[in-house]
Amino acid sequence: MPVFSRPLLGEHHPEDDDLSVREINRLSVAAIREALSCCWNGLDVRCMPVVDSTNLEARRLLSVENKEYLVASSAQSAGRGRRGRIFYSPGDGCGLYFSLALPWSYEAQPTQVTTMAAVAVCRALETLYGLTPKIKWVNDIFLQERKVSGILTEGWIRPETQSIDALIVGVGINLVSPKAGYPQEIADTAGALADSISDQKTKLIDPNRLCAVIINALGVIIDELPDRAYMEDYRQRCFILGKRVLLDDERVVIPSTVTDDGALVVFENGRYEQLSTGEIQSIRLDIRDDGLVVE
Ligand code: BTN
Repeated sequence: MPVFSRPLLGEHHPEDDDLSVREINRLSVAAIREALSCCWNGLDVRCMPVVDSTNLEARRLLSVENKEYLVASSAQSAGRGRRGRIFYSPGDGCGLYFSLALPWSYEAQPTQVTTMAAVAVCRALETLYGLTPKIKWVNDIFLQERKVSGILTEGWIRPETQSIDALIVGVGINLVSPKAGYPQEIADTAGALADSISDQKTKLIDPNRLCAVIINALGVIIDELPDRAYMEDYRQRCFILGKRVLLDDERVVIPSTVTDDGALVVFENGRYEQLSTGEIQSIRLDIRDDGLVVE
């Protein structure tokens, strides 16, 4: 079965209990456009049923012309996560994967844009579905202690100038859990948006609207720059603050805050230290703190 084979909206198979959540709209340029706010009038929107990676496709488009693009897809064959990891991106209506490419003149670094996108995703999930998503520094969105979304921001460097000319913000969201379950490596930590929505009607997640509402929320945050009020929201949602966490180098620290630049401030051996995303491979709640372990 091709990765993107799934029923069209309206084809009903009552024998399939899960069908209501799988009967979702196909991605469509017109539907995304309709829900985008006017600040995105210049956005070149592209939808692809399947792609290797929307971040890679955005990169290819930028190298032709440096302008604003949105590339959205329902399946990725080579979805990219942070640190060269694979981002599991099955088809069959299970996920929404999109990248926003933005010619970038602000001083903000990719990590700061990741924090902006994290807040935008949370605000969209709150607005559309009444959920209270949490953030695991720096780029993971959690619902009910499971990761439902990840963000990867990459700089696009113009070969001629070797300067960052554009940023590519990639967002992946698990809409529905795959019928066959998640791959073993993420089975204990991954979850899907639909698992947190009890209202059957709302469970009919429209990926076009979700994508547009996230981008609108990001647009509001960008428009407010250099005001960084959104970082207060980020800190409020960041569930590792004040908890004992285990870093990949075996250190146990207590993160106290996240700076406006996206660095994690930790307290260890009587002093505060700022950790950047480049320094930390993985972070998990210390099991001795509250019995929870998240990757
Ligand atoms: C992570 O959790 O490590 C970040 C995952 C980012 C995944 C998104 S899906 C859309 C975009 N295209 C990619 O190849 N990756 C990002």
